[in-house]
Amino acid sequence: MFYLKISKNICLSIFERKHATDLYLLIDRNREHLSKWLSFPVYTNKIEDTIAFIDKSQKRYIDNNGFWAGIWYKQQLVGAIGYLYIDWKAKKTEIGYWLGEEFQGKGCITIATQQLLNYAFKTLKLNKVEINVAKKNLKSLQIPKRLGFVEEGIIRDYEYLQGRYHDRIVHGLLRTEWVNQK
Ligand SMILES: CC(C)(COP(=O)(O)OP(=O)(O)OC[C@H]1O[C@@H](n2cnc3c(N)ncnc32)[C@H](O)[C@@H]1OP(=O)(O)O)[C@@H](O)C(=O)NCCC(=O)NCCS
Repeated sequence: MFYLKISKNICLSIFERKHATDLYLLIDRNREHLSKWLSFPVYTNKIEDTIAFIDKSQKRYIDNNGFWAGIWYKQQLVGAIGYLYIDWKAKKTEIGYWLGEEFQGKGCITIATQQLLNYAFKTLKLNKVEINVAKKNLKSLQIPKRLGFVEEGIIRDYEYLQGRYHDRIVHGLLRTEWVNQK
């Protein structure tokens, strides 16, 4: 199972059923904050929904098709990060992430994303990682920018959230670019 101690304060661990209560309560407390940019809180209305999500993530891991991991900061579950899929033919993946509102501003996502990049390029030997963000999600746009991703283009009206369509900016980092950053 994927487990990574990143620093004295932060660790990542693939979600298991034992995390369901903490995960559900974190989502429930942050419904408004998360729903601005993500659709899953609308479909997460009881603990069973979170258990089903964890089971799906475990299956994804077993199928070698990505996973979701929890982010623990000072032993408290503060958010989640994962590979949404793995395309083994094109050797690429996409990273998604979110944090509880009160845990923003500590660098947890930037640091966790850096680790998932290392894992994608070093361990999984992928060629490309994408991070795709709604054009108006200013906080999230900072993550790929900070980590040296290249902005590749805009998909217009990509998703419908909170009563309106949102454009999505595609960001990519190639293995060669990641190696050159080192
Ligand atoms: C997007 C989201 C995860 C960004 O959270 P965040 O806290 O800004 O990101 P990080 O955890 O990387 O923290 C970065 C901040 O911590 C600061 N920071 C402190 N220590 C740091 C460190 N060691 N490394 C990097 N940044 C650090 C940075 O300066 C930055 O602060 P700033 O925003 O004032 O410039 C969060 O806003 C969120 O969950 N939003 C709702 C869901 C969402 O939009 N998900 C993404 C969909 S694409």
